[in-house]
Amino acid sequence: MAQILTLCYLVASVTFIIGLKMLSGPATARKGNLVAAAGMTIAIFGTIFLYENDGVKLGNYIWIFTGLTIGGFFGTLVAKKVKMTAMPEMVSLFNGMGGACAALISLVEYNHLSHEIQLSGIETGHTGKMIIMALGLIIGSVSFSGSMIAWGKLNGKIKDFSFAGQNILNMILLLVALLAATWVVMHPGNTMLMYIIFILALLYGVLFVMPIGGADMPVVISLLNSFTGMAAAFGGFLYDNKVMLTGGILVGAAGTLLTMLMCKAMNRSLKNVLIGSFGGNKKGHAAGTKEQGTYKEISISDSAMLMSYANKVIIVPGYGLAVAQAQHACHELEKLLVDKGVDVSYAIHPVAGRMPGHMNVLLAEADVPYEKLLEMEQANDEFKTTDVVLILGANDVVNPAAKKDPDSPIYGMPILEVEQAKHVIVNKRSMKPGYAGIENDLFFQPKTSMLFGDAKKVLQDLVAEIKSV
Ligand code: TAP
Repeated sequence: MAQILTLCYLVASVTFIIGLKMLSGPATARKGNLVAAAGMTIAIFGTIFLYENDGVKLGNYIWIFTGLTIGGFFGTLVAKKVKMTAMPEMVSLFNGMGGACAALISLVEYNHLSHEIQLSGIETGHTGKMIIMALGLIIGSVSFSGSMIAWGKLNGKIKDFSFAGQNILNMILLLVALLAATWVVMHPGNTMLMYIIFILALLYGVLFVMPIGGADMPVVISLLNSFTGMAAAFGGFLYDNKVMLTGGILVGAAGTLLTMLMCKAMNRSLKNVLIGSFGGNKKGHAAGTKEQGTYKEISISDSAMLMSYANKVIIVPGYGLAVAQAQHACHELEKLLVDKGVDVSYAIHPVAGRMPGHMNVLLAEADVPYEKLLEMEQANDEFKTTDVVLILGANDVVNPAAKKDPDSPIYGMPILEVEQAKHVIVNKRSMKPGYAGIENDLFFQPKTSMLFGDAKKVLQDLVAEIKSV
């Protein structure tokens, strides 16, 4: 039995690695997800039916299958119903559940161990396990409460909140939790202290994410993701379970790499993220608070004309394109312009939309060739020689305040420097702000023209107009 279980874990670990590799390209990502899920199924059922401890198999099948059925039912329901634009919220929620699992495992196992120690009276020889449990508890709890706050912020139910000295309080909380954890490791059997650490870590998670505002949530979400991975890996150490360890390490490592890439994209240092100080303290100009001047509008026919006679057009997709589900109409416009001899490409900002790679996935859905996508640096070189930039539902990622206004919450974030092009057409439905909640000077610049309307309708009208020219 034990050998077969080890084989199951090996197969599962291999599928995780293959699945992760396949996730790196839009063409194979869907299959990659299924491959890794199949591996996880093998690992779960292998554990349920083949695991033995001193010749004793798992017996509490009613509890296990009730949990599996309830979790599986709700998970499937939510995943089936979720809109593509609400995916990051769901990822946050699921990530939080992973953290909660890791924290609960630590609490339960600590109770078991304390009981064993009481019975045997032997207090030594448990240091390794104790360290793993204490770290699993702290990291899992921070990940759980932080992810819940991130979930609330992404769906707009929780607003940024900060107060003077919050960073110092955060540091003190973390320090006290770590000192308490050290005490627990050195003096096993102190169950009450474990619950106090649990509460301190939950509080730290809340206070750590609450002030993070502006456009900085992507960094925090991927950081919390890596925390959950680490906490799961601690669980793997605790149970000497290879597949839990591999899965946790892969999630932790992938999350850490993504955090570093996000930090680079947002021009933030990881230190700033860890002490939870960025974004929230700066207010910038909330939409509607600053005298901005006037903006000019452009009609569908003038926009169609401008693009049809251009040599080079760059499309900047943003969150609004995903909301409108206008990717197919966008691809149609692109093909039409290419047929007219226009050089068309897409400028992709790393945090456009609401999840890493959101725009890549969206455009891949509409079969936009991957070669047409320009990364931010490449696009910024191309704008100088571009006749028309068409912005579709993007806002923060083209906001010049990131370069010019030190008071802005997005100051320092690299942006797509669209103002370098000859003409800028911005499609959105109104003058409302984007995710960061701040005004955008770009809309009031002489080169910029606003093309109001839902992105899908506007793109369909543009296609019809160009066909008739
Ligand atoms: P945003 O700054 O959020 O702007 C999106 C714009 O789309 C809005 O101003 C909105 O204006 C417009 N819009 C909404 N629905 C539309 C529709 N149906 N048709 C046309 N326009 C529509 O988007 P962005 O430029 O992509 O920037 C992303 C932001 O989200 C950044 O601040 C980023 O940090 C943050 N964020 C990103 C991630 C990741 S990992 N990508 C995760 C969390 C947060 P109207 O309401 O006037 O139409």
